[in-house]
Formats: sequence, structure tokens, C-alpha cells
Amino acid sequence: MVDGMKTVLVTGAGAGIGYFVAEQLAAAGATVVLGCRDTAKADLAARAIRARVPAARLRWVRLDLADLSSLPATVADLGADSLDAVVLNAGVLLSGPDRRMSPQGHELTFATNHLGHFALVAHLAPILTATPNSRVITVGSFAARSARLDLADLQSEDDYQPKRTYERSKLAQMLFAFELDRRLRALGATSASIVAHPGGALDSLTPSRPPLFVHTTAQRLRGLPAGVALHGKHAAAETIVRTVLDTDIAGGELWGPRVFGLRGRPHRETPPAHLTDPDSAAGLWAASSALTGLDPLRHPSTPVPLLA
Ligand SMILES: NC(=O)c1ccc[n+]([C@@H]2O[C@H](COP(=O)([O-])OP(=O)(O)OC[C@H]3O[C@@H](n4cnc5c(N)ncnc54)[C@H](OP(=O)(O)O)[C@@H]3O)[C@@H](O)[C@H]2O)c1
Repeated sequence: MVDGMKTVLVTGAGAGIGYFVAEQLAAAGATVVLGCRDTAKADLAARAIRARVPAARLRWVRLDLADLSSLPATVADLGADSLDAVVLNAGVLLSGPDRRMSPQGHELTFATNHLGHFALVAHLAPILTATPNSRVITVGSFAARSARLDLADLQSEDDYQPKRTYERSKLAQMLFAFELDRRLRALGATSASIVAHPGGALDSLTPSRPPLFVHTTAQRLRGLPAGVALHGKHAAAETIVRTVLDTDIAGGELWGPRVFGLRGRPHRETPPAHLTDPDSAAGLWAASSALTGLDPLRHPSTPVPLLA
């Protein structure tokens, strides 16, 4: 069990892995804030958690990572002057051939997965750094291992391929997370930035959580063969929850599932060099600041000029 006063914000807590992260944290005694863009889903998620954890301490805030202008209101709604951890879990993998844009005119996958979380951390930074030993947990992906970032084309204007854009967005999130930890250390902050990846997690290997979602027996039977290599979202969440709660895990660490990085119990991994490259990370940080007008570790009274 955790200290009952521990409060954790989980982005994308109304579905998939984020739901199970919220459920498992609530079961461990944390106060969980469900960050959801759909308020009906937040309500269903809270009911599903309470069905299993009657004493769960839950709140929710409306969170749309794709719309940068909405984030200050989300953080104001938190109404908190301290936050023990934020789990940057929400993510999109778009499938259509057309490049889609966020309200601010950024490519939607990069905008949601990376820029939205970059900006959220910037808005949360005063609260996080005021909370001793707080944690930023970034949910990365195995897919980032083979991805390479193109700093000259962060928004996939050239030859848009949805899967590659997704993989690069996850790489961007992980590069940012490792750089965030280096900068927190340089500032002497007690806050830590840690990366966890869930391996390969399928809905068909995931138990139902009514009234939020129900996976039929037929769906689960079809998924069984994949269980040799992959796991369900409930199991995938365990690695992420471990990085929130285990006080022996330090900033800058990477955790994933033990079996080939795809399934199984949480396990510490050595990050590949391109995920921790300080030059790429500095370039990404500067570009992300220019696109969002924010710098996560700069005082808000000195805003960054927006990229024209
Ligand atoms: N599943 C895997 O095998 C796997 C592997 C590697 C990494 N990951 C990472 O793990 C995380 C969770 O994946 P998952 O499989 O659980 O995905 P999922 O079931 O599709 O859930 C994604 C979550 O993100 C939320 N979301 C999407 N766009 C958002 C926005 N603009 N603002 C706020 N929330 C938004 C969704 O909300 P709605 O319900 O409103 O759409 C949903 O709660 C993602 O970051 C993903 O990249 C997953």
C-alpha cells in the first residue's frame, strides 16, 4: 500500500492501459485523478474502478492533449498545489492515409503524444517541483527502438506514414523524458523523470471492466494464440505502476516487461543510445518550446516566443 496522501494524475485513464494504471494505483491506496477528454468515459472508468476497489479515491479532469489551449484550464481544474506523480499515458496511433492537424495546426499524432504531454508537464512543473520526490512517468514504446527522429521534419510534412509518425512521436516522448531528468538533476530538483514501456498489449488478452468495456469470450478466444508473445493491458499496466510506486527506481531509468521487452513482469532495461542522446534531445526540446510557447523548466513569467 502507498501513503494515502499520494496523488497521481493519469492521462488517458478512460481506456486501455491507462484505465488499468488508474485501477491498480487506486487499489494500492493512491488518490487517482483520471485525465480524460470524454467526461462520460471518465464516469464509466470511475464506476468500473469502484466496482473492484470500493474505497478508491478518484477524481477526474477534462484533458484534451491535442488542444494546447485547453491545458491551462485542465491544470487549474486539478486545484492542487502538490502532485506526487503524473503518468503520461494517453496516445494515438492514427490509421488513415491523410495527415491530420491539431487545433493549433500541428500534425495530430506528434501534437497529441509529444507536444501535448510536453506542454502538460510545463503547466504542471510548478506543482511537481513543489512536491518532494514527485515523478513524471512517460509511457514510451518498444517501437521507438527502431525509430529515428527527423529534427528537420518533426511533423511529418514530407512523406507522411501514420505508423512511422507514431513511432517517431514515441521516440520524441522518450527523448524528452530522459532530457527532463537530466535537467531536473542539473537544477538539484528532487523530482524525477522515468520511462516505462508496456511491451505489446492487446485488448483481446485483456479482461473486461464493465461498465467501461466488455471483451466477449469470442474476442478473447481469438486473442489467445497472441498470448505466447504479448500480454493484456492489465498486465502491461503493471510495469508503469511499478515505476510510480517503487521508491528504489530512480530518475532516468527505463523499465519494460521482462520477456523480450514484450510481455511479463516489470524489469529494468538499458536504454539504446539514440533514446538518451543529449544533442537530439536538446534540439527536440528547443523545437517543442518554439511550437508550444512553453518551456517545462523555465519560469512561466518568461514565456518562450512562439514559432511563426
Ligand atoms: N498497446 C500497446 O501494445 C502499446 C505498445 C507500446 C506503447 N503503448 C502506449 O501505451 C499508451 C496507452 O496505449 P493503449 O494501448 O492503452 O491505447 P488505447 O487503448 O487506444 O488508449 C489510448 C488512451 O489515450 C487517450 N487519448 C487519445 N487522444 C487523446 C487526447 N487528445 N487527449 C487525451 N487523451 C487522449 C484515449 O482517450 P479516448 O478513450 O477518449 O480515445 C485513451 O484513453 C499509449 O501511449 C501507447 O502509445 C501501447
